[in-house]
Amino acid sequence: MLRHVTSIILFFIIVILRQNLIAKELRCRCLMNDSTCWPNLSVWRTFNESVNGRLIPVQPSVAFCTGNPPNIDVCANAIAQWTNATWRSDQVGAMQNHNWENTSCSDDLGNVTCTQGSVPRLAVNATTAEHVQATVRLANTNNLRLVIKTTGHDYLGRSTAADSLLLWLHYMKTITLEQYTSCTGENISNAVRIGAGVQWGEAYAWLSTYNLIAIGGASPTVGAIGGFLQNGGHGPLTRWKGMAADQVLEFDVVTADGERQTVNACQNKDLFWALRGGGGGSFAVVLSTVLRTFPSPSMVSILYTISAANEIRYAHFIRDFIRFMPTLADAGCAGYFYMIDTTISIAFFVPNGDLTVTTAIIDQLMKNYTDLQFIQNSIATFPSFYAYFSQTMAKSNPTGGNVLLGSRLIPETIVRNQPDQVAEALFQTRGHSKNQSMLIGHLVAGGQVSNTLIDNSVSPGWRTALLHMIHAQEWNDNTSVVDQEILASRLRTQVDILQTIAGGAQSSCYINEADPNEPNWQQKFFGTQVNYDRLKSIKKSVDPNGLFICKNCVGSDDWSTDLNCLKKSTANRVHITMHVFVLVKLFQFFK
Ligand SMILES: Cc1cc2nc3c(=O)[nH]c(=O)nc-3n(C[C@H](O)[C@H](O)[C@H](O)COP(=O)(O)OP(=O)(O)OC[C@H]3O[C@@H](n4cnc5c(N)ncnc54)[C@H](O)[C@@H]3O)c2cc1C
Ligand SMILES: *[C@@H]1O[C@H](CO)[C@@H](O)[C@H](O)[C@H]1NC(C)=O
Ligand SMILES: *[C@@H]1O[C@H](CO)[C@@H](O)[C@H](O)[C@H]1NC(C)=O
Ligand SMILES: *[C@@H]1O[C@H](CO)[C@@H](O)[C@H](O)[C@H]1NC(C)=O
Ligand SMILES: *[C@@H]1O[C@H](CO)[C@@H](O)[C@H](O)[C@H]1NC(C)=O
Ligand SMILES: *[C@@H]1O[C@H](CO)[C@@H](O)[C@H](O)[C@H]1NC(C)=O
Ligand SMILES: *[C@@H]1O[C@H](CO)[C@@H](O)[C@H](O)[C@H]1NC(C)=O
Ligand SMILES: *[C@@H]1O[C@H](CO)[C@@H](O)[C@H](O)[C@H]1NC(C)=O
Ligand SMILES: *[C@@H]1O[C@H](CO)[C@@H](O)[C@H](O)[C@H]1NC(C)=O
Ligand SMILES: *[C@@H]1O[C@H](CO)[C@@H](O)[C@H](O)[C@H]1NC(C)=O
Ligand SMILES: *[C@@H]1O[C@H](CO)[C@@H](O)[C@H](O)[C@H]1NC(C)=O
Ligand SMILES: *[C@@H]1O[C@H](CO)[C@@H](O)[C@H](O)[C@H]1NC(C)=O
Repeated sequence: MLRHVTSIILFFIIVILRQNLIAKELRCRCLMNDSTCWPNLSVWRTFNESVNGRLIPVQPSVAFCTGNPPNIDVCANAIAQWTNATWRSDQVGAMQNHNWENTSCSDDLGNVTCTQGSVPRLAVNATTAEHVQATVRLANTNNLRLVIKTTGHDYLGRSTAADSLLLWLHYMKTITLEQYTSCTGENISNAVRIGAGVQWGEAYAWLSTYNLIAIGGASPTVGAIGGFLQNGGHGPLTRWKGMAADQVLEFDVVTADGERQTVNACQNKDLFWALRGGGGGSFAVVLSTVLRTFPSPSMVSILYTISAANEIRYAHFIRDFIRFMPTLADAGCAGYFYMIDTTISIAFFVPNGDLTVTTAIIDQLMKNYTDLQFIQNSIATFPSFYAYFSQTMAKSNPTGGNVLLGSRLIPETIVRNQPDQVAEALFQTRGHSKNQSMLIGHLVAGGQVSNTLIDNSVSPGWRTALLHMIHAQEWNDNTSVVDQEILASRLRTQVDILQTIAGGAQSSCYINEADPNEPNWQQKFFGTQVNYDRLKSIKKSVDPNGLFICKNCVGSDDWSTDLNCLKKSTANRVHITMHVFVLVKLFQFFK
């Protein structure tokens, strides 16, 4: 009997020791600066061959100017192209918002030595599904920190991480029209299959040759089906047809185990639900997506830039503008407005609108404000969405600065019932040119975005919203870290003001254009805790080891701030489960 008990206790100790070891191994990712775990050269050589020699070194966007000796011509070009978003998306190491590269140097600080910052040192320039699969498998086998990047537009820095392995999807540019039959038997003509690297400007241009449109974003350089669509995706036509994620018929993906899968309403249903709104970089690598298209609408464009002589007159105009918002929304208007100092720029449009009708509506508002200075005003018809897009939005898309955003979705009922309160909050949170801040209004919700029949993981906050309001705070490269912290906390104050019109405890914001320092982000970004919890349980089933982890993404709350280590509590939880398991086994044994 004693021998029996001793051997049981011994068994118990051995099991616990083993579990401790496993927990420790799992706890942290292997980073490139750790030679004790980073794969050796021969592993990399074999891997590089398996991806057709597409393993490439990565440098921050300013690195061209800091080599020894610096390459003068390449550097001059980099400085000239610094704010060119197309150029930035072509640089494997560049982020669109320079702050996320987090290097010690910049284009206007002169030739100081440049650290690698948050930029990975090694990337796979993937162009095929096999490249993606091989990369995912390598990361799995060697416990590497993996990051996925398409264009680097992410406002929370989710597509870069120091000493990680970067999976770069920018050159997966295939785009085809499909006669798509859904798994439920529905025939959908003119569905479009868009590859991971395609950017909205390219997709719009390509579809325009068929006189078709897809529901995309306002920026030509944002990736069509990456973080944009997987986090919901709003744009000029979303009031007309719904969110970008609402248009998805099917995904072709590589899951965390390296397998290639079709994801639609019949196959991998949970993943299909999660990928339509629940987050990029969290559930799988999306290789391509099949989307509905629509015949291109014509567009009535409304452009106004108006300046008031003083704050009182400005506040009046903002009040009447917000009071008038329901009329504009009911007339089919969508678009953007920008508020700085005592100026507002309005870029609205009406898909398939009527020029005369639209002009009459706008005149109702403007005729009361003949004392304001109209720096620009024009109402015009464009024959197609693409004609409108390429002559207006496509032209102004500069990036390359340092910026943080804070935002709130503003419910439609609040805009309709308490317009003066909304106007007051917008007046207070407007931007100030001397402070490098701006308030950006998006009339991109309501209409078809409010269609609650669609069952996907887009935040429920979108379904009741009319406006998406962003306060943007920029700073210079030479702004001190202390001053950056002051700006970040000032941004929180602005969000607190927007919060007063955001609908109370259930208020939310758009995960793609939000403050990385947002408290309670699970509820704020995913709309409800229930939505978040469901996504997290799907995440656990499709990616049990957390290979796809990014800042404020589903499941990231189990990881340390730098996302490289499982939090102790989580590791402990695994542990406790194991202990309970062992105890139960022991108990059964005694019986
Ligand atoms: C100038 C500018 C304009 C913008 N305009 C709009 C707009 O009009 N509407 C709007 O809704 N948003 C807009 N955004 C926000 C934009 O949607 C987000 O920045 C989004 O994350 C961009 O996705 P991306 O794939 O291009 O960027 P990336 O930074 O490359 O990736 C973003 C996230 O998605 C993941 N990811 C990327 N590709 C894949 C993939 N194929 N499979 C799995 N995960 C992937 C990355 O890991 C990362 O977590 C804008 C941003 C900028 C900078
Ligand atoms: C590697 O870099 C990370 C930060 O990116 C740091 O936390 C870690 O200590 C470094 N490891 C080694 C072995 O230097
Ligand atoms: C490199 O690592 C692999 C896998 O860990 C190992 O099998 C191989 O022997 C190593 N090669 C060298 C040259 O160290
Ligand atoms: C991968 O292989 C290609 C082709 O042989 C080579 O040009 C490239 O330098 C290799 N990558 C790395 C990081 O060694
Ligand atoms: C922006 O960069 C792209 C890609 O490098 C280039 O083709 C384009 O001409 C650049 N635009 C401008 C205005 O320089
Ligand atoms: C940027 O770099 C600094 C200094 O290395 C570091 O303290 C900080 O945490 C980094 N910030 C981000 C967002 O990575
Ligand atoms: C950077 O170095 C280049 C080449 O040595 C030189 O021409 C240039 O003046 C330097 N710029 C600064 C800001 O020091
Ligand atoms: C990445 O691959 C594309 C497509 O093959 C190629 O045009 C591009 O030059 C490559 N970029 C780098 C940095 O290797
Ligand atoms: C869809 O198209 C296929 C092939 O053209 C046809 O056989 C089928 O009957 C159609 N289904 C429906 C529901 O119209
Ligand atoms: C214009 O002013 C009149 C008179 O004050 C007011 O009744 C009307 O509502 C205003 N129109 C708009 C669109 O603000
Ligand atoms: C703008 O900046 C000044 C100081 O630079 C500060 O006093 C003021 O409060 C700021 N205004 C806002 C609205 O942040
Ligand atoms: C910081 O950079 C900005 C923009 O590049 C410049 O206008 C300003 O003079 C610089 N300030 C200092 C103190 O160098």
